Parts: sequence; C-alpha cells; structure tokens
Amino acid sequence: MSNVEEALVNAARLAREQARAKYSNFKVGSALLCGDGRVFTGCNIESSSYGLTICSERVALFKALSEGADNFTRIVVVADTHELTAPCGACRQFLWDYCGDLEIVLTNLVGKSKTLRLTQLFPEPFGDHLF
Ligand code: THU
Repeated sequence: MSNVEEALVNAARLAREQARAKYSNFKVGSALLCGDGRVFTGCNIESSSYGLTICSERVALFKALSEGADNFTRIVVVADTHELTAPCGACRQFLWDYCGDLEIVLTNLVGKSKTLRLTQLFPEPFGDHLF
C-alpha cells in the first residue's frame, strides 16, 4: 500500500469513529482525495426519521464540494464487515456526477481491501454526459 493510500485508510478509519449511527449501529468512514492533495473525510449521520440518513461517502463529497475542491481521484470506504462494504446507489450516482470514474478502495478494519473503478460498480450511469 502506498503512503497516500495508507494515509487515506487511516483518515477514513478515524472518520468512521465519528459516525452518528445509533439506529443501525453500522458505522462507515470515508476519505476522499482531491486534485490539490486535500483529503475530505465523512462518516454516516443518521436521523430519527431514518430516510434522512446520509452516508459517509456523501458527507465526504459534500464537505469537499462546499470547500471548492475538485478533480477527485480516489475515495476510501471503511466499515467493520467481512464482506467489503460498497457505496449505496445514491452515493454511486453522486460520485459519478462529481467525480466521474473515480477509484474506489473498499476496506475493513482488519486490512482486507479491494480497489475498483466507479464504472465497475455503476455501469451505464445516467448523467450530464447524456444531455
Ligand atoms: N452507509 C454508509 O454510510 N455508506 C455505505 O456505503 C453503506 C451504508 C450507512 C447508512 C446508514 O447510516 C448505515 O450505513 C446503514 O445502512
């Protein structure tokens, strides 16, 4: 694992500890790398009105966008699961819209990891390239 990837994994793990996941008890952390080298992290934030919950990936992306970041190259997602946790459909759409064919590193707390491209998880996406 490169130094950058290790730093991203550590950032995602730390972010995961901030998860507000008292309804599901399922904590997720993300770290998104931007073109200028900045890293934005996110954790899932749940609501008593369950459907309002926001995933860690979108929290990281929204933080980055709101700070003017762009040219995203990689996101690391970490959860405490044996089978690696991949972004949900809503997050895949947002990642496609703002990051294009991003590199996605799925990982867990015991170091299992898999690297994919977004288009592998989200083939034939809808997006503004169509109009
Ligand atoms: N969740 C994420 O934050 N990211 C994912 O990739 C999958 C799901 C959150 C949403 C919710 O707070 C909890 O995990 C259970 O679905």
